[in-house]
Amino acid sequence: MRNNTAAYDEIRHLLLGMFISRSLTAVAELNIAELLHNGPQSVDMLAKETDSDPDALYRVLRTLAAVNVFEELKDRTFKNNALSDTLRIDAEHSAHAIVRWINDPGCWASWGRLDYSIKTGRPATEAVLGSDLFTWLQEHPSSLKRFQEAMTGFCNIAAHGVVETFDFSAINKIVDIGGGHGLLLGKILTRYHTTTGVLFDRPEVIDQALPLLTKLGVADRVETVAGDFFEHIPSGADAYIMKHVLHDWDDKHCMMILNNCHNAMKPNSRLLVVEAVMDDGPNSLFAKQADLETLVITTGGRERTQQEFADLFSRCGLKLQRLIKTDYPAVILEAVAH
Ligand SMILES: C[S@@+](CC[C@H](N)C(=O)[O-])C[C@H]1O[C@@H](n2cnc3c(N)ncnc32)[C@H](O)[C@@H]1O
Repeated sequence: MRNNTAAYDEIRHLLLGMFISRSLTAVAELNIAELLHNGPQSVDMLAKETDSDPDALYRVLRTLAAVNVFEELKDRTFKNNALSDTLRIDAEHSAHAIVRWINDPGCWASWGRLDYSIKTGRPATEAVLGSDLFTWLQEHPSSLKRFQEAMTGFCNIAAHGVVETFDFSAINKIVDIGGGHGLLLGKILTRYHTTTGVLFDRPEVIDQALPLLTKLGVADRVETVAGDFFEHIPSGADAYIMKHVLHDWDDKHCMMILNNCHNAMKPNSRLLVVEAVMDDGPNSLFAKQADLETLVITTGGRERTQQEFADLFSRCGLKLQRLIKTDYPAVILEAVAH
C-alpha cells in the first residue's frame, strides 16, 4: 500500500510539472529574477514593479520556492537562489530565453495536441498552427524572436562544450549551416583569432544576426549569407559545422542538406555535426526529450543513433570519421568526403 502511495505521489509530481513549467515562464516574462538581482524584495514591491496582482504573484512565487526556485523569506519577501538566478537574462548560464520559448504559443499550443502526433506520426504544429513551425515563425515575429533567442541561449552552453573540445586551429574558414544568430560561430572565432566564418541561415534570421556578432566582436570576420540549405550551401570552406539542424528533418530532407554540404566541400574539408546522439548512456533522457520535441514541432525530425548518422552520411558520399564527446549532452560527429 505504501508503495502504491509513493508511486501515485511520483506520478502526480511528474504530471503537475506543467504548473511549474508555466510558472517559470510567467516569472521570466515579468523579469522577477532580474528585479531580485540586487537583493530581496517584498511581493508587494515586485507586484508594483511588474503591474501584477500581489496575491496572485505571491501564490506563484511561493509554489516556485517550494521547488527551490527562489527563496521565500518572512513577510512575503523573496530572494534569488542558484536556480532562480538562471532566469536572469544576463546570468552566466541563463535559461531565460528557453524558459520563454517552451511556453510560447508556437511550442506550448503544439504540445497540447501530442495526441495528433501519436495518431498520425505528423507534427502537431500542422493541426495547431496550420503549417510547419519554420513557416509559421516567418509570420509570427515575436515567436521567431523567442525561438531564436532560445536557440542562442541553449547554444551558449553547447558552444562552450564544442569550443573546449574540438581543435579548430587548422581551419581558416568555417561555415555554420543553419547557424541562427551566430553564437556558436562567434565563440569559435573569439577563440581562434585568424579564422574567418560564414553564417548561413534563412533571410529572416540572418537579418537579425548582426547585433550578436558585433557584441561578440567578430562581425568583421563573418560573412552573413541568407539562403535555403535545401537549395545551396556556400562552397570552399575548410570546415562546415551544423548544430541541432539535422534533428529537425526526416532522412529525405537530411540527405538534401548533406548532399548540398558534400557539393560545397573541398576534398579535404570536414563536416562537424553537433547533435544529441540517442544511446543508453546518462545523456539519453535529454536526447529522448529533445526527440519528443522534434516529433511535436518538426516535420519528420528525430534524434538519431550514431549508426543512423553513419548511414545517412554514407548515402551522401560522406564518411563518419570520429565521434567526439563534449561536456554538454551532445556529441560532435566528424565526417569527411569518401
Ligand atoms: C534548431 S535551430 C538551430 C540553430 C543553431 N544551429 C543552434 O544550434 O543554436 C535550426 C536552424 O536552422 C535554420 N533553418 C531552418 N530551415 C532552413 C533552411 N531551409 N535553410 C537555412 N537554414 C534553415 C533555422 O532558421 C534555425 O536557425
